[in-house]
Amino acid sequence: MAIVSVPPRPRRHRRREFSGAAPSSTATIAAFVAEQDDVRSTRRRSQEHPHRTSGGPLQRLTDRLRLTPIGPAHAEELYQLYQDPGIAEWSGPALSRDAARELAAHVGERWRIDGVHKWIAHDRVTGELVGRGGMSRTELDGEPRLEVGWAVRTPLWGRGYATEIGAEALRFAADVLGATEVVAFTEVHNRRSRAVMERLGMRYDREIRLPGLVAGWPGVHPDAPFALYVADLSRDSV
Ligand SMILES: CC(C)(COP(=O)(O)OP(=O)(O)OC[C@H]1O[C@@H](n2cnc3c(N)ncnc32)[C@H](O)[C@@H]1OP(=O)(O)O)[C@@H](O)C(=O)NCCC(=O)NCCS
Repeated sequence: MAIVSVPPRPRRHRRREFSGAAPSSTATIAAFVAEQDDVRSTRRRSQEHPHRTSGGPLQRLTDRLRLTPIGPAHAEELYQLYQDPGIAEWSGPALSRDAARELAAHVGERWRIDGVHKWIAHDRVTGELVGRGGMSRTELDGEPRLEVGWAVRTPLWGRGYATEIGAEALRFAADVLGATEVVAFTEVHNRRSRAVMERLGMRYDREIRLPGLVAGWPGVHPDAPFALYVADLSRDSV
């Protein structure tokens, strides 16, 4: 299974979801900071969880979620997410606490360098940990791409949280990063993740081969079939 660039090396999906390279511009970050005062944010502010109200300028608020850039402070929550069997089934085996600390630091560093990476998601009213997700920079066929992803704690599946994270990530890509296209990919048999892509209006593009899971076979395979979806942000598809 494939791995991130910092030790300990989480596998396969973690490399995809927690990679990144190209820096973003200061102007786009400034545009995002201005956007924090939008109507949706202020409407809900009175309901916010008192312990979750200071997440920095890159924090996003959706109807139900508070999305905070992952950094060193989220090591314990990342650890918890990777103990969740429904997440571990697709994202790799449970992380150790040390690995979670290194992963959280790595993602924080990618935010600093790339201007984007994964958020940790909390219920914006109760503060309950919901999952993680969002946009990160990756490479596909040798080309830099923006990839959107998600993972939600198993007891919270079936409520639309992943779709909510994904929709906010696509808005972030368009409004803050100025992106016109975003990709998402998952093993062909990850029906729930593909359903999120489809709910977001992403178009199935083609099958690609990456290290991952193959239905009916144990372990990780070097060239597992993945479904690649594309969101065309230039035509207002989300
Ligand atoms: C992939 C994953 C995030 C999808 O979770 P999910 O709960 O199925 O997806 P959503 O949060 O978008 O919820 C959609 C479901 O909630 C329902 N729903 C309820 N309220 C909704 C709302 N406001 N908006 C959208 N859907 C809503 C939908 O009808 C759908 O129901 P269904 O499962 O009966 O079809 C989850 O399975 C997971 O964490 N898997 C492990 C990690 C993983 O595979 N990540 C992807 C790796 S590429």
